[in-house]
Amino acid sequence: MLKKALESTLTSKESDELISAFDQIGNIIIVRIPNSLLSKKKIIGETLLNKVKIARSVFYQASDVEGDFRIRNLEILAGEDNTETEYKEFGCKFLVDVENAFFSPRLSTERERIGNLIQNGEIITNMFAGVGMFSIMAAKKKKCTVYSIDINPVASKLCEKNIKLNKLAGKVISINGDTSKIIKELLINKSDRTLMLLPERSDEFLESAINTTKNGGIIHYYSHIHADKKSEAGKLSEEHYFQVTSVESEILGSKIVRAVGPRYYQTVVDVKISK
Ligand SMILES: C[S@@+](CC[C@H](N)C(=O)[O-])C[C@H]1O[C@@H](n2cnc3c(N)ncnc32)[C@H](O)[C@@H]1O
Repeated sequence: MLKKALESTLTSKESDELISAFDQIGNIIIVRIPNSLLSKKKIIGETLLNKVKIARSVFYQASDVEGDFRIRNLEILAGEDNTETEYKEFGCKFLVDVENAFFSPRLSTERERIGNLIQNGEIITNMFAGVGMFSIMAAKKKKCTVYSIDINPVASKLCEKNIKLNKLAGKVISINGDTSKIIKELLINKSDRTLMLLPERSDEFLESAINTTKNGGIIHYYSHIHADKKSEAGKLSEEHYFQVTSVESEILGSKIVRAVGPRYYQTVVDVKISK
């Protein structure tokens, strides 16, 4: 559909380059544009806005996802300059701000997988919760309590709104601040399951994850791993986990979550810890 929309503006080769770098979130379209096509960015934006019926705004992603808050700069190409929108996933509604708080539609399969693993009655620490995507999906699916921590005040505020929007007051608790500090003050040995979705810095926060997790609890340890062969990425991340952990651990499984570069993968290792 997109390719067709851009038919009059770009060659077939040019639109192929663009399509892999395109996200639609609610009524917002975000495109990453290769340098070779930057001179055409306005016309690309206007064409997409005109041809994609539900689009309200088209933004150009002007930076990578960066910094402690894992956010990106967006430049408006066409339509309304408003980075907030509503997004729906597996029956949950989310208010997201695609510029000022981390959000990725590309993690939906992983969110569903975690939701399916959770058992009724669990207490969960979501150490890097963003706007509460994993927390809210978990609490919608199962009877659990989720501590949903994020250091970005915009993300925590949106998480509070999302708790109300999904009628989960008291089941998901949004806490703003540094996860290590909050765990130390409030959440030692509290969780049956701990999520560590800040893959670039997992090693730095592993001790806090172990601290918040009960004896026999589960940690979902996300990391970024180089692997020459894709089939080896899971095993390599298990080996890496064993190099950095300080507790006895049983590996329950590992997998690639998504590719993040050439021979570079975001992986998750699910571990049961004893302490
Ligand atoms: C990759 S995002 C994950 C967000 C969320 N889990 C999701 O899937 O939408 C990482 C999040 O960690 C937060 N963060 C970074 N450092 C943190 C810290 N020290 N304590 C708490 N949150 C932190 C960022 O603000 C960001 O929202």
